[in-house]
Amino acid sequence: MAINKDNRLKALHCCYTAGTGGGKSVAVQYGGMMPKSPCLAIFDPYEDYLYITGSDTDIGFAGKRTYTYRTRQAFAKAFMNAWSSKKPFRICYTPANPSREEMLWFSLLMWHASDGQRRLDMVVEEVAKWCNTTAKEQSAYGECLTGGRKYGLVVHSVFQRSTEVPKTTISQSPFKIIGMQETEDDAKRMAKECRLTIDDMAELTPLNYIKKHPGLTGQVERISLEHVFD
Ligand SMILES: Nc1ncnc2c1ncn2[C@@H]1O[C@H](COP(=O)(O)OP(=O)(O)OP(=O)(O)O)[C@@H](O)[C@H]1O
Ligand SMILES: [Mg+2]
Repeated sequence: MAINKDNRLKALHCCYTAGTGGGKSVAVQYGGMMPKSPCLAIFDPYEDYLYITGSDTDIGFAGKRTYTYRTRQAFAKAFMNAWSSKKPFRICYTPANPSREEMLWFSLLMWHASDGQRRLDMVVEEVAKWCNTTAKEQSAYGECLTGGRKYGLVVHSVFQRSTEVPKTTISQSPFKIIGMQETEDDAKRMAKECRLTIDDMAELTPLNYIKKHPGLTGQVERISLEHVFD
C-alpha cells in the first residue's frame, strides 16, 4: 500500500508524445524531467532502455546501466531489493508478452511501493497500446496518475498519438513534452493544450520539442535534444 501521504507534494507527472522516431525515448532520458540519480522503474516492452556491456546502441538510460527483467517474479524481486536499498537505480520490466495486464501489474507494484517520503519515477512506454479508452482510465495506472503525487510517485507516460490515450494521461500530466506530430488531429489536440497553433506543431522535427509547463498559462518552452548525439 502507498504510504506516508504528503499533500504538499507537487504533481510532476510528464507525458511525452511524438510520432515514431520523433524522439520520445530520448526526451524521457534528457528532457529535464528525470532526477540525476533516480529511483526509476520502466515498463519497457521494446527494450528502448536495454543495457548490454560493450554495446554502442544498448546503452541503458542516459548512458547509465539499467537492469532488465523479463518475468514478474524476477522484476518484483529486483525492484523491491533496489527500492529498499534506498540507493538510486534504473530497472526495466520487459515481459515476454507485453499486454494491458502486464502494464497494470507493473503500475500496481509502483502504487504499492510508493512512499510520500521518497520520490519514485515510473515510465510507461506506448501507453496507447495498453489502454482501451480515450475517456477516464480507471485502473492501477490511472490511480498512479491521479493519486500518486501525494505518495511521491512521478509518472512518465510515453505515446505516439494523443488522440489514442485516456484523457487522464494528458490532464493529470502537468508537464508535456511534445515532439513531431503524426496527424492533424494529434497536432490539434496538443496545440490546444499549449494554446499554440497547429502550424507551431507542424514546425517540429525529430529531437525538437515543445515543453509545456504546468497550468493553463504555463510556460511554453522550445527545446532541442539534437546535441545529445553530437
Ligand atoms: N544512439 C543514437 N545515436 C544517434 N541518433 C539516435 C540515437 N538514438 C536515437 N537517435 C535518433 O533519435 C531519434 C529519436 O529516437 P527515439 O528512439 O527517442 O524515438 P521514439 O520517438 O522513442 O520512437 P519509437 O516510438 O519508435 O520508440 C531517431 O530519429 C534516431 O535517429
Ligand atoms: Mg521510443
